[in-house]
Amino acid sequence: MKSLVEILTGAVGDAFEKAGYDRNLGKVNVSNRPDLCEYQCNGAMAAAKVYKKAPIQIAQSVVDVLKDSDVFGMVDCVAPGFINLKVSDKALFDYIDEIAKDPKFGLSKPEKIKKIMIDYGGPNVAKPLHVGHLRSAIIGESIKRICRFAGHEVIGDVHLGDWGLQMGLVILGLQEEKPDLVYFDDSYTGDYPAEAPFTIGELENIYPAASKKSKEDEAFKERAMEATKKFQTGVRGYRALGQQIINVSVPDLKKNYANINVSFDLWKGESDVQDRIPGMVSYMKDNGFAYLSDGALVVDVKEDKDTKEMPPCMILKSDGAALYNTTDLATILDRMETYNPDEIIYLTDKRQSLYFEQVFRCARKTKLVNEDTKLVWIGFGTMNGKDGKPFKTRDGGVMRLENLVADTKSEMLKKIKEGNRLPDEEALKVADIVAVSALKYGDLSNQASKDYIFDLDRFTSFEGDTGPYILYTMVRIKSIMAKYDQSGKNSFEAKLKVPVTETEKQLMLLLAAFNTMMEGAVNELAPHRVCAYIYDVANAFNRFYHETRILNEEDEDKKEGLIAVLGLTLKILETCIDVLGFEAPDRM
Ligand code: ARG
Repeated sequence: MKSLVEILTGAVGDAFEKAGYDRNLGKVNVSNRPDLCEYQCNGAMAAAKVYKKAPIQIAQSVVDVLKDSDVFGMVDCVAPGFINLKVSDKALFDYIDEIAKDPKFGLSKPEKIKKIMIDYGGPNVAKPLHVGHLRSAIIGESIKRICRFAGHEVIGDVHLGDWGLQMGLVILGLQEEKPDLVYFDDSYTGDYPAEAPFTIGELENIYPAASKKSKEDEAFKERAMEATKKFQTGVRGYRALGQQIINVSVPDLKKNYANINVSFDLWKGESDVQDRIPGMVSYMKDNGFAYLSDGALVVDVKEDKDTKEMPPCMILKSDGAALYNTTDLATILDRMETYNPDEIIYLTDKRQSLYFEQVFRCARKTKLVNEDTKLVWIGFGTMNGKDGKPFKTRDGGVMRLENLVADTKSEMLKKIKEGNRLPDEEALKVADIVAVSALKYGDLSNQASKDYIFDLDRFTSFEGDTGPYILYTMVRIKSIMAKYDQSGKNSFEAKLKVPVTETEKQLMLLLAAFNTMMEGAVNELAPHRVCAYIYDVANAFNRFYHETRILNEEDEDKKEGLIAVLGLTLKILETCIDVLGFEAPDRM
């Protein structure tokens, strides 16, 4: 469906043509002087050069034609040649009425439906999730939902870190505690027990203890590296234990992610693609892409246009061991062969910028991907504390994600109870829902690449540019609609009418711009655009609400129109918060 701006551009283009000028000069934009007009066209300025006439003269002749148009309620030309415009109430109504009937509110289908894989989350098994994993999960989940809403086929893959040193550390830590486990008996040939020899609680203690010890005790670290190697080379007992670590970790990770409305379609990990590495390495060697340099196998990824240092991509270390990027390349190979995506999007900390540049170049050069496969990396900034340094616990440690979420939920509960409206049990549930909005909106409202400050008090506030403010506005709308329904009517069947007041019109104009906003958010993979939009909508709604008698409106017909605008506002806000990855309660 055409956007409202496109429709207006069409009408002004017609007028330029009728007045004897090129219709392409009629481009309309949203006004940057909302005090004067809603839209503007600056085409007369460009026309002046081509037609060698005063711009005001051209603008005037276009305005003369537009005066008869029923698309505009106001047309005006001002020196030196701006055309100021307001859309007519009727045209706005017609447009709004149409998008209200469309489940995508006027967002057109993509020209080409793409298969997109999103690699986000990236937790490491055996290690608890910490705040460093929060942004990847929050932003990745939202981008997944935005692309899906746009109509693309999207697959989210958690890409577990299940191959590194942490595996050896846990295995060794366990061996110290329980040396008699059958997994450590090299002569054992039978099946291993189905049940893991540790619980998630135990696992959470084994890793930090072993990690600490490895930093203090060189010999222990050596042994952990040996254990890692045994696990990686497939020593039966070690591999079986590794699988148990994954088996025990994954349900816990799922639970933690579910707590913040994050879920993945695939739970693949680094370990799943290790079988592909030997074949990939031979292929790279046989085709002359990879060569030995100081004993290590590398692929050059430097390009002539490079101005910065671009080290080669290392495929195997001199001892033959694979690296983090070897696994990422094998994962690309696996994804291409298994899913053949048009696009793969990665979300990591922005410090991995050079790393992904190398991996992508290597994948392209060695033709692991098709020529038209897009590889996209989104690097996000750091979540800082109020001191402007990376967020830490009070005693300076790494904050566990679980604790951060719990803290946000209890702060939210405190604030909800201050309002003192809800029964305890409901308050608890509502606080959980609203806390997720506080956490996610606080993150997503910033451009991903920027650092931001985690400010619990601000994020959980019901006022200002926050998640709870948006939800509060939605709850307000729901409550008015519920009251309307109590009078035996059905608010969702209410029919839209032409706007009656200026604040209502301003709200409608924003609702009409949903499709343009969403198209931008999809093209730029930018959840912050959705946040900025719903903040504007919430503000416009609240202005309208404070100025308008809704339930007390005596004219039933008018009232129905007002309720219908509320309904559309609510639906659009619901759609927006859904793509951001949170939801609204019925009361709060
Ligand atoms: N597991 C990694 C970490 O905790 C993040 C993985 C990012 N994704 C990737 N395909 N390399 O830092």
